[in-house]
Amino acid sequence: MKIAIAADHGGFELKETLKQHYKALNLSDLGTYSADSVDYPDYAHKMAHAILSGQADFGILICGTGIGISIAANRYKGIRAALLYSQDVARLAKAHNNANIIVFGGRTMSVDDVINRIDTFMQTSYEGGRHQRRLDKIEETE
Ligand code: RB5
Repeated sequence: MKIAIAADHGGFELKETLKQHYKALNLSDLGTYSADSVDYPDYAHKMAHAILSGQADFGILICGTGIGISIAANRYKGIRAALLYSQDVARLAKAHNNANIIVFGGRTMSVDDVINRIDTFMQTSYEGGRHQRRLDKIEETE
């Protein structure tokens, strides 16, 4: 399983913490590489390209709130970026939405909550069936 991670300055610290915590998974770091101010769309673009090219199976994106970087990533056809704001949502984002990018707020979420949500997302399977019909309808309108 190839997993990429990227953040703007609002998510830089959380990204570094997650890279350490998931060291065994060898997360592919797409930046940013310092706490200096950057523009979150640049990292959403890098992540979308990594997912759509097959360079990564799924991605973790972080900005201050998780909102701006979600909006930017979801502009890409085939990207399903989900802001995991609760434990239950972490499960449903995989089971129902088959999200290929999970998003967090570096300034709005605790490290423990984020780790629990990532673990839940990775342990959950996509249910397909009626949910695939709904995902297909999203693709049709993109
Ligand atoms: C950057 O200051 C901040 O606006 C960004 O990280 C994010 O929260 C935008 O949605």
